[in-house]
Amino acid sequence: MSDDWQAVALSREVDRKPVRVMLDSAPLVLFRSGEGLAAMTDRCPHRLAELSKGRVIGGEIECPYHGWRFGGDGQCRAIPGHLGDMPRYRVKTYRVTECEGVIFVSAGAPVDPPYTHAMAGQNVIVRRVRSSTQSTLIDVAENILDATHTHYTHKGLLRGLSSKRQVVDVAVQGGAGWVEAIYTGEDKQQGAVSKLLEGQRVKTIGRYRHPGIAELEYWGPKGLALATTFHLRQVDARRVEGVGFLVGPRGGLLDYLKTLAFRPMFKLALEQDRRVLRSASDNAALAPDARAVVGPVDFLRDDIAAIIAGRLPAPPSTHQIAL
Ligand code: FES
Ligand SMILES: [Fe+2]
Repeated sequence: MSDDWQAVALSREVDRKPVRVMLDSAPLVLFRSGEGLAAMTDRCPHRLAELSKGRVIGGEIECPYHGWRFGGDGQCRAIPGHLGDMPRYRVKTYRVTECEGVIFVSAGAPVDPPYTHAMAGQNVIVRRVRSSTQSTLIDVAENILDATHTHYTHKGLLRGLSSKRQVVDVAVQGGAGWVEAIYTGEDKQQGAVSKLLEGQRVKTIGRYRHPGIAELEYWGPKGLALATTFHLRQVDARRVEGVGFLVGPRGGLLDYLKTLAFRPMFKLALEQDRRVLRSASDNAALAPDARAVVGPVDFLRDDIAAIIAGRLPAPPSTHQIAL
C-alpha cells in the first residue's frame, strides 16, 4: 500500500452526484457524505454493483441495484426490506483530502498533506485542468518536460516561429524521488504563448517528482513568473489521467490576462500533445516489438525511469542544446 497522495479529481467535479475515479486499477467512488468528502471502493459488497451509478441521499450513498446505503465511513446503514438487526457490512474507505480545489486520495496513511504546485503557500492565482491521455506515465511526464518537441508538435504556439535557434545551457540534477533540468540563456521562446505571457526569461526548469508529478517553472527577473504542475497517474495499461495546476503570482501576467487568451492556447497545446501521444501509443503496439530510443537531448528520460523504478537519478550533469 502506497502512502503517496494521488490527485484524482477537481473539487468542483464532486457535488451532489457521486464520481468514479480509478486508483491503481481499483475503482473508487467520491461523494460528499454527512461526515464530509468520502472515498471508498466503488463496489457494493452485495452484488458488486457500481455505487457511483447510485445517488447520494441524506449524506449516504445508495446502491442503484437494491438500495443498500453506506455512510462516509463505509458502514452499511440500510438494507431496504430487512426488518431485523443490521448486519455489519462495510466498504473499504480511503484517505481523502482537498487542497486548493483538487481532491487527493491515498491507499495508505500519508503523514504530510499533499504537494499541490510549485507556488504553494504564495499569493497566486490558480487555474486547474483535467486531462486524459492514451499513453504511459513516463511518456506523458517526459512530454510535459521535453523542450525539443515544442518546435514541431506546437509549432507557432510555443516555439518554432523562427528557424533560428539559440544555444542554451542545461543543468540536470536530482535526488531521491526527483530530478530537474534547468535551462538558462534562452531569452524567450519564440511562440505566441511566450509573447503574451512573458517578459525577459531568466531560466526555465522542468522537474519530475515522485509519484507522477511533472512541473515547469518559468523564471523572470523578479522570480517565478509562471508554473504548471501536472499530477499524473496511470489508470490502466494504456491510459494516463492528469490534474494540472497553472499558477502565477497575483498581480502578475497570468492574473493580468485573466487567462482569457492563455486558456484556449493551453488547451490547444494539451490537445496537440494528446494527439501525438495517442498516435505513438497505437503505433508502438504494432509489430514488431520495439524499444524507444533515448536520444542525446532527452536529458530527463532515464532519470524519470529510474525514479519510477524506485532508484536514484544519475549524478548532476551539464549540457548544451540549441533551442
Ligand atoms: S448490489 Fe448493491 S444493493 Fe445489491
Ligand atoms: Fe507539449
